[in-house]
Amino acid sequence: MTSAIRIYARRIEGIGEADLAAERALLDAAERERAKRFVFESGRVEYIAAHALVRRALAEELDADPRDFRFVEGAYGKPTAWLGAGAAPVSFNLSHTRGMVAVGVALDGIALGVDVENGSRKVDLSIADSYFAPPELDWLRSHGDADQGGAFMTLWTLKEAFIKATGKGLSEELDRFWFAEPSARPIRIGFAPELTEDAGHWGFEHRVLAGDYHLSVGWRGSGRVEWRDMPA
Ligand SMILES: CC(C)(COP(=O)(O)OP(=O)(O)OC[C@H]1O[C@@H](n2cnc3c(N)ncnc32)[C@H](O)[C@@H]1OP(=O)(O)O)[C@@H](O)C(=O)NCCC(=O)NCCS
Repeated sequence: MTSAIRIYARRIEGIGEADLAAERALLDAAERERAKRFVFESGRVEYIAAHALVRRALAEELDADPRDFRFVEGAYGKPTAWLGAGAAPVSFNLSHTRGMVAVGVALDGIALGVDVENGSRKVDLSIADSYFAPPELDWLRSHGDADQGGAFMTLWTLKEAFIKATGKGLSEELDRFWFAEPSARPIRIGFAPELTEDAGHWGFEHRVLAGDYHLSVGWRGSGRVEWRDMPA
């Protein structure tokens, strides 16, 4: 059985905190407290928009009230959604960057990770040596100067999508898995033998949204991605 993995993304450029009253009303007391702790308005906007988007996406998936979910963190901090007394039968992952928030949701126990990055962010490409595996560095260097920024963001978001899907974050060693040819479709992951993962069980997609936002999603299981617009 192939399960739908629905991706919702929302642009938040030019949005202020005052524009998010309806979203704020969906958050629980702990989320509102966390939002308040951001010194800059941009941080508060990103947080409120992202966490409201999660609630609305989960509610749409399960036909529930967005305010009824609560969140429980796993061993490495990856949150799962709960509804009433039990874990909600849905997995999700959230990502935010300056100007965009995105969430993926899936049923059927699919593990998924989502990463969105603002491609206009200035990045020192020399950090690639510390984060990417040799086949990824070869792919990156096969691009001309003008395309290296986009290639870097493609690899970065794909690697993040994997470590967010497993939930292990940076405790996953970054050179033990790689994307040797991210321009090919489908996108395939490779694993070092000591990682007990089967590459055939993994799927990945990468897209550039609204000109400059790189979004990657990775999942373990049989899935197909559906891209959704969440009304503002
Ligand atoms: C959370 C983590 C996994 C991703 O962080 P990030 O890219 O800065 O942030 P994103 O916006 O994509 O994701 C943040 C959201 O992921 C979720 N999250 C938190 N811990 C997570 C984990 N272990 N696994 C999956 N999702 C997690 C939360 O919903 C979080 O939202 P919140 O902070 O508003 O509650 C971070 O711990 C991490 O490992 N960052 C690695 C950065 C890096 O050097 N990557 C190298 C890639 S080559």
